Parts: sequence; C-alpha cells; structure tokens
Amino acid sequence: MVLYDAQNKTYSLHTKNTTYQMTVWDYHILLHAYYGPRLEGEDLSYLLRCKDRGFSPNPNEAGGNRTFSLDTFPQEYSTCGVGDFRLPSIELELPNGSRTADLRYVSAAIRKGKYSLEGLPAFYGNEEEWETLSILLRDAAAQVEVELLYGVLEEYDLITRAVRVKNTGTETVRLCRCASLCLDFVHSDLDMITFNGAHVMERCPSRVPLHPGIQGVDSVRGASSHQHNPFVVLCGHEANEDYGLCYGAMLLYSGNFQAMAEVDQFTNSRLVMGLNPYQFSWTLEPGMAFTAPEAAMVCSPSGFGQMSRLFHRAIRRDLIRDPWAGRRKPVLINHWEATEMYFTADRLVEIAQDAPKLGLELFVMDDGWFGARNDDNAGLGDWYVNEEKLPGGLEALVARIKDLGMEFGIWIEPEMVNEDSDLYRAHPDWALNVPGRKPSRSRNQLVLDFSRAEIRDHIYSQIKKALSSADISYVKWDMNRSLTEVWSAELPPERQGEVYHRYVLGVYDFAERLRRDFPDILIEGCCGGGGRFDGGMLYYTPQIWCSDNTDAVDRLHIQYGTSFCYPVSTMGAHVSAVPNTVTSRITPMETRGVVAMHGTFGYEMDLSKCTPDEKETIRRQTAFFKEHYDLIQDGDYYRLSDPFQNGSYTAWEHVSHDRREALVSLVTGSFRSAPPFLTLRIKGLEAKLRYRINGEGSWLGAVLMQVGWPLPIILGDYQALQLYLEAE
Ligand code: DGJ
Repeated sequence: MVLYDAQNKTYSLHTKNTTYQMTVWDYHILLHAYYGPRLEGEDLSYLLRCKDRGFSPNPNEAGGNRTFSLDTFPQEYSTCGVGDFRLPSIELELPNGSRTADLRYVSAAIRKGKYSLEGLPAFYGNEEEWETLSILLRDAAAQVEVELLYGVLEEYDLITRAVRVKNTGTETVRLCRCASLCLDFVHSDLDMITFNGAHVMERCPSRVPLHPGIQGVDSVRGASSHQHNPFVVLCGHEANEDYGLCYGAMLLYSGNFQAMAEVDQFTNSRLVMGLNPYQFSWTLEPGMAFTAPEAAMVCSPSGFGQMSRLFHRAIRRDLIRDPWAGRRKPVLINHWEATEMYFTADRLVEIAQDAPKLGLELFVMDDGWFGARNDDNAGLGDWYVNEEKLPGGLEALVARIKDLGMEFGIWIEPEMVNEDSDLYRAHPDWALNVPGRKPSRSRNQLVLDFSRAEIRDHIYSQIKKALSSADISYVKWDMNRSLTEVWSAELPPERQGEVYHRYVLGVYDFAERLRRDFPDILIEGCCGGGGRFDGGMLYYTPQIWCSDNTDAVDRLHIQYGTSFCYPVSTMGAHVSAVPNTVTSRITPMETRGVVAMHGTFGYEMDLSKCTPDEKETIRRQTAFFKEHYDLIQDGDYYRLSDPFQNGSYTAWEHVSHDRREALVSLVTGSFRSAPPFLTLRIKGLEAKLRYRINGEGSWLGAVLMQVGWPLPIILGDYQALQLYLEAE
C-alpha cells in the first residue's frame, strides 16, 4: 500500500511487515525518513536532525540557516557536487563542462499495478498485487527530469526501484552516473554481507561490519561476474538466520555493477547500488531518456531465512516468466564432463541410451557440435552443424534421441567468436577492440560487439535456423570470457562510454527474441558456470548453471551462498562422475544426488560407463526427485546450518506451503573419531501438527523445532541423509 500524508508531506510504502518512508522537506528536497518493520500512520521525519556542522554547506535558498545541509540529511536519491559529499547516485555533465546534479521534488503519482522497463528485465505482476509510486524530481539548471519508480509487492515485502532520466532542455547533456537504489540510514550499526568468489567457487558470503569510509563490491568485467554478485545484505550485528533486522538488495542487471556502502563523519550510512560508473557515460540529446536497471529490496525483521524466502517466492512467481514460472522442468543429462568437445553422434547416443530407463527426460548436447569446433580454439561464431561429427545434421541426431524417448537440448555461446572461424575471417571488425590495439584473448576467444544490432541479427539468424531445423526443447546459453578492449565501431568517440551498457541491452534483446520465437524452449543461462547469475538473466532464463564446479562438497558452499537471494529452482545442479574434474575429490553417489537436488537436478556423466549399482542409484534418485518435485522446487527453503562455519554437517530443508510436508537434507563433513551427539533443529513446521519421519514414528512439530531430532552417527566422509516429514 502506498500512502501520501499531505499534512506531513510523506510518502509511505507499506508491505505486510515493513514500512518505507520518504518526506518532501524544505526547498522541495526529498529526504529518506525510514525503512524497517511496519509502522502505521507515523511521521518518521522527526529522525531528520538539523544542526550547524563545520564544512557542511547550506543550499543557497537556506539563506542564513546554517543548520540545513545536504551533507547531513539522509537523501532519497543522492545528488552530486551541491553539498552532499557522500556517494552520489547521479552525475550530469552539462554542455559547459560542469558535473553536478541538484534534484528537487516536483510531483508524484500512485497507481495500481507494476511499472515495466523498456528493454530491461523487471519484476512483473498483476494489478491487484502490485502498486507503483512514481516521483518526479527536476534539476532546473540542467533541465533534466528524474523519475524515481517504486514497485510495491505487499505480500512478499518486496519493494522495487528504477530510475528514468530525461533531458527536457534544448542542449545535449551527459549522464555520467545513474544508480538504481540509494538507501540512507541515520546510523551505521550494520554489517554488510557480500557474495564473492572466482570461477569454480562462486558466491561465498563475506560479512564485515560497516566502517568509516566506503566499502563494497563491483564488476568491471562486462558481466555481473563470478567474483562478486549484484546482491548484498545489510543487517544488524546480531542478525542471524532466524533473528534480527536485515535488508537484502538485488540488482536485476547482468553487466558492470556497483554496490557501495559508506559510513559518513556523523555515522550515518548509505547504500548505493546500480550501474558501475566505471567507463560509463550516456549522451542525452534533447527529449531523450535513459532508464537505469531495476533494483529490488526486501527488509526482514526476522533474520536472513525469511528475507531469502521472500526473495525466492517473488522471483519464482513475478520474475521468472511463463511458461516456466510454474511449469515442471525436465530432469536432464548433459555429456560435457564426460566427453567435452570430443564426440560423435554415435557417442552421444551411447551416453543417452539408458537414460530414459533411469527416468531422465532431456539430453543436452553441449559445446562442440558446430563449425570447426574440435577443441576450444576454433569455431565460435559458426553456428552451423559440424557434419563430420553429426552426419545428417541436428535433425538426424535429434530423431535418434527422441526415438529413445527423450527431449533434446543444445548449447550455444552467441556472444563469442574465435579468430579461427568463418565469421571472424569475414568480419574481423565485429569483435570488440580498441583501434590500434591487439585484442586480449581469453580461452582463445574474442567478444562480439553485441551493442551492434547488425551483429546480433546475423548471429541470431544463424542460431534461429539451427533451432528451427529440429525439435529442440532446451538451450544452454554460455558466455566464457570477460570483456576487454571495449570500444564499438558504431559509436562516435564521445559515446564510447555507452558500449558496456549497450552490450548488456544487446544481450537482453537477443534473449527476448529467443523467448519470443521459441516460447516453449527452456533456456538455461551460463557464464563459465555462475559468472552471470543475477536477477537480470533470470527474467529471460529461468535457470542458470550455478558453477563449473560440480564437486558435491564445494557445491554445498556455492549453493548455500547462492540461496541467500536465488531460489533452488533457478540453480543448475548436476550429479557428475568422480573423481571430480575440478577437485579430484571422491564423494558417494548418494551425496552427489542429494546435493544436486538443492537445484534443478540432473546428471553430467557417461551413463554407458556406470555400473548396474550406479544406474540403480540414478533411477532411485530421479524417482525420488520427481516424487518430491513441487516440495523441492516450489517449497519454502530453510538453511539449517552454515557450511562455512560448521564442519560436522551441512543441512537444509524444503517445506510445503501448507507446512504438512518437509524434506530435510544433510551432508556430513569429513569424519572425526569420537564424534559428539548432535541434535538438528528442524524449521518451519506447524507446531501443533505431528509428523512421521521417513514413514515412521510420530513427532510433534513444536518438539522437532524447539528440541530437535537426534542425528545418527554416520561413519565415513561426506555422507548424505534425507528425512521426509509428513503430517499425520
Ligand atoms: C562452460 C560451461 O559452464 C560448461 O558447462 C560447458 O558448457 C563449457 N563452458 C563448454 O565450453
């Protein structure tokens, strides 16, 4: 619910459990008053204190009033160069070379439903459940209007934000910075949690108290990156899974981003999140507008678990789009770890042969099917079938797989080109590069300039032809390097600052076309595993390959971190062969299955080499997953332990919406002799209901939650256990 209090000039955004408030202050300056647990009908602007502070300037209109300074107030959308010296949200370069921005409130509108953003991913939803607040600000000197957009999803305590900047003047203006979210607090008793890592070890949480100065994470790699995720949490020092105030902020963007927190001289704090200003500028001709990507916030007064469950529900229902929002996804088998690019059609069929008997429903042909792709030095850009490997083309292979009783999926990497390809030989100028420089190679490939429509069109038409040539149900969209030498031949020198962002808009345009032309194809995002795992891509690709690391023990950590924002149904996770290709670790197949069920669940191995026992395990795992599909993919998710802190075990849980069913999964650590007796407290049950566990006994929900379930002592390393709870 969005409310305007005309007397106090406050706008309050109420969700089920939270309130967000801003106030129109003197001289039409929009200040941020409050974000936290829900408060009814209160004017919180009493928190805004006026005080004469040294070196804190006063706006000219304040005349002799030295107590009014932008340097000390919490801002709703911070300005630049006009008295607030903290992190700016916006920066404008005017024709005279000045780089300031001074925004004043003009008007606001409240309406039912959710705004949408042209060419950008955004939460969507129906008229009844969402409300939109639009606030118009103006910089009179620059003749620029800024529209702050807020979407309110009351039921899930979710507030989205986006920003539109319009040049309403007669001269060209340059936008040098444009954040999506600015969130000020009148204290800094907060920790910041960021999700960091590297290729094959993504999204490991790191928690540090805010300290004076600026701290944060970003990406300048052209993708959201393996290294830092565009999702951060601010929380009280005491906050944990089940207790304490926390704020999650995600950016729905797949390119260079920045999420920075600052503690100022008076211990106020500020979070600014959005496009990374690194090498960014955008030319706004008179009448033109720019839209910054969407950010989404959840405030949970009761710990991280609740925050995550709210993000999960909102993402599953109002970010993932039809037909996949509620549709059951197939259990797949991918041959990548078994063969890499070294395969023939016969070899693929050999791997797929027994798959349907084991319950697998989709066969995915990974990298290596096109052009001269016989290793990873050639072929990218040539999206036609390599007939030496696949005689008769896709049609013949797909027919063979379908005859076995499976759907067929295919791998693409549309944004890339090898120098050893027909495409590059014909169009060497289509790869991103700075004139006079030699482009950096990574995995021996270059990046196509996806900011250019003609290049996207060319690649799209090839891929469309391939996808139309056979009955294809799934596409894995990969992206295997970061951007360097970013410069586009299509733009004049003064507009080169637009290339990074135009590249991402090009990716979104390409994805939207794929969705439009092949609405039933399930697209899995991938970027060397989880290098582009973000809310932006999820709008187009309902699942994303979580990591190139399929080792079950490492995956416990990666999936744990990923779950803070993203639901299990979006995390690509497979059972692979051992020793693991990344870690050489050997873990039991049971364990690998349980860990892959903390995701979309599938296999990535050579089934023709599996023993009868292993095949029986696969059959059992697949049947179990399908039986509990709704519970795992759509249930509420609870973290029961933290693998970074607890070496004894990692446990998590899925609970049905009516709380009558739950599935607890647990993997032990490396075994230590004389282990302690451990009791696992189960979460999210109905206190008064009695539950059977794996078909036995009768346990009161309150007892399982407050006292717990005694864990058996399991010998051996990395053993798995699953408890299925059903209400009597
Ligand atoms: C990186 C992906 O994450 C892998 O799963 C695989 O598809 C390779 N690329 C193929 O090149």
